[in-house]
Amino acid sequence: MLPPFLRRFLLSCTVAFVILPGGQAQDAHDPSAFRGLPVRSTLSNPSIESRVELLLNQMTLEEKIGQLVQYSAGTPTGPGTGRGDYQDMIAKGQVGSLFNLEDARAANRYQHIAVEKSRLHIPLLNGLDVIHGYRTEFPVPLGLASTWDPKIVEKAARLAAQEASASGVRWTFSPMVDIARDPRWGRIIEGAGEDPYLGSVMARAYVRGYQGATLGAPDSIIACPKHYVGYGASEGGRDYNTTEISEHTLREVYLPPFYAALDEGAASIMSAFSSLNGVPATANPFTLTQILRKEWQFPGLVVSDWTSVAELISHGIANDGETAAWKALAAGVDMDMESNLYHEHLMDLVKSGKVSEAQIDEAVRRALRVKFSLGLFDNPYTDETRENHGPLAKENLELARAAAERSFVLLKNKLTGPRRVLPLSNDTQTIALIGPLADDAAEMLGSWAGRGQPKDVITLKSALAQRIGAGRLKYAAGGTIMTATEEQISAAVTAARSSDVAILALGEDAPSMTAEASSRAHLELPGRQEELLQKVAATGKPVILVLFSGRPLTLTWAFEHVPAVLAAWFPGVQAGPALVRTLYGESVPSGKLVVTWPHSIGQIPLYYNALNTGRPAGNADLTHPAPNSNEKYVSRYIDEPNAPQFPFGYGLSYTEFRYSPPESSAAKLSANDLNEYLHSDKAQARPVITVGAHVTNSGRVAAEEVVQLYLRLRGTSIEEPVRALKAFERLSLAPGETKRVTFSLAPDVFALWDIHNERKVEPCRVSIWVSPDSERGQPIELDISK
Ligand code: BGC
Repeated sequence: MLPPFLRRFLLSCTVAFVILPGGQAQDAHDPSAFRGLPVRSTLSNPSIESRVELLLNQMTLEEKIGQLVQYSAGTPTGPGTGRGDYQDMIAKGQVGSLFNLEDARAANRYQHIAVEKSRLHIPLLNGLDVIHGYRTEFPVPLGLASTWDPKIVEKAARLAAQEASASGVRWTFSPMVDIARDPRWGRIIEGAGEDPYLGSVMARAYVRGYQGATLGAPDSIIACPKHYVGYGASEGGRDYNTTEISEHTLREVYLPPFYAALDEGAASIMSAFSSLNGVPATANPFTLTQILRKEWQFPGLVVSDWTSVAELISHGIANDGETAAWKALAAGVDMDMESNLYHEHLMDLVKSGKVSEAQIDEAVRRALRVKFSLGLFDNPYTDETRENHGPLAKENLELARAAAERSFVLLKNKLTGPRRVLPLSNDTQTIALIGPLADDAAEMLGSWAGRGQPKDVITLKSALAQRIGAGRLKYAAGGTIMTATEEQISAAVTAARSSDVAILALGEDAPSMTAEASSRAHLELPGRQEELLQKVAATGKPVILVLFSGRPLTLTWAFEHVPAVLAAWFPGVQAGPALVRTLYGESVPSGKLVVTWPHSIGQIPLYYNALNTGRPAGNADLTHPAPNSNEKYVSRYIDEPNAPQFPFGYGLSYTEFRYSPPESSAAKLSANDLNEYLHSDKAQARPVITVGAHVTNSGRVAAEEVVQLYLRLRGTSIEEPVRALKAFERLSLAPGETKRVTFSLAPDVFALWDIHNERKVEPCRVSIWVSPDSERGQPIELDISK
């Protein structure tokens, strides 16, 4: 690592002009401005660099271009290209990477061609979307993030890497670190929600897990944070749609998780489909060159998204494939996924002088760097005996179960008489289990389920039957997710009538309603499920709703009338056991929402870390109006409260927690002091203040609580959010126990991107909350003077 002064000096020397395709230079930035530190890379290795140069010197232009070409040679995950001549092309050195291959045998088959038949024996890099597990499927990423437990996420990613690499996969297109503030967007399920800090913590955890201690180990796979950048802000939540994001918001909200992933060592990154402020992300010199290469100095590989190079034509910034290829490469996309345009046009572009061979060399270096770092030149093949075709190992199932348990968010649990509906008592004699998701193994795997198999899944129905005996369980599917007949609904009602309690397993259809190309304009339960719920509830039996979804759903009726609701997302292979243990209280819910849960679609976008308005409704410090506020000229709807159904960070437990007011080790800080540390490597390491609070478990069961620290800065050069998460900690508390949580805050916690888009600490007023979610708690105040 370079000493801080040298890093700063080098940074200040970075070129301030971005050359746009088309030749015009655009004044991008004041070169003396401080914009952040370069990322730490796992790819900077002098011996690898010399091997890269040696090889590059032997390569023909055609072979170089080949390294920048990628095809899917398995089940397509986007529109097909119609190509199938990969073997031929590989033998000629015209392909650098394949993805979507079935197994280790397929990977080895292609690798043999690359290594034995191509002139320079350059191995292929084999990729796949390993998103929340490979064979051992974990909860979907939104669920994994809801654990607020980076350790378990890292372990899940490590296991995924071990399993995937045993099948010949050395590159995963994960983690998706797009900040998402709109639950209509189907891909909200693939990420960590709406918060840049939590998103960054999770991004780092995935990268550590996938890439392991060293990239060269045979069970390491490289991570690929995606989709760079802003894709989550697609207008109206409609997938692939346009985004408009100011530079300030880009730097404060959308870029941090990418920075975190790369700083943790992620060796590749994927450009997005969407256009950003009128420039498609796959041909965006500002994000791909200025930020990624110049400010962050990222030495790894940029891959386009599926045909996103060709889509530059639809975006309207290229009228033909040649121009599209040129613009993407010139902006900084090294590898063309599926468009076929680098293969078809780069040669001519070099011949005509529009693209220099030096530009091609730079992109090839990045591809080779990654291949050398993975050890592919020394060990190109996968040991096929490592691949697991048998049942899943016990310890892996335990990990999957623990992750699922932590991902559940208890949204409601009403007192009925002396006790709450949940946990279920062992005295409950008969249970009606109702709903299309109670016994659907494939659904439990969620979307982007790698090589997960329904036969590995234990459903809620089988786990519950196992627990209480089939005789005490009355099961009725009540129809499918999309349809139900009168008979199916009335069979469900009959089952409920003759039982002590009814558990309803309802929700979305994972493959068609969540993830890519699955945006929804309506966020209710699909089909007749709400009707089913209402009719079962009308029996008067206590009802527990277990909700399977890839996003918050607007279930106003259910949240008002159903006494207990558990958000289960799509929990993976151990869905059933994790749910049964949770319903019976052997596992106490501790997940917290990572997205604000709206009341109605009209409120969207609705996120906690919003800016205050000049006319805030209700308390000026909060975004929410007082319930019966009659004020007219305030920022509110006339027909809907501003408040969400449930705030970010929210989640109930089977116990109660009491928080003391927070205390801090100082009431004043100096901006000058903080800035001195901020711009050096010490920024992370040196805490400047501690803030603590006492948290008491005032209930009767041992449980874990995610304690959250938020702050607000006021009096700054640019508006800052009403609250911003800056730290959190999972605490384990016995009944009656009190623990003190102490957060050590480093200078970067108080930093912002100022009105000139420079990163600094400004003199300001700071409010700090230590609280169970993003709405509760009383802040302490401190001042940052000059
Ligand atoms: C998705 C990416 C994915 C790629 C490869 C695209 O359609 O947007 O997230 O990694 O396909 O499967």
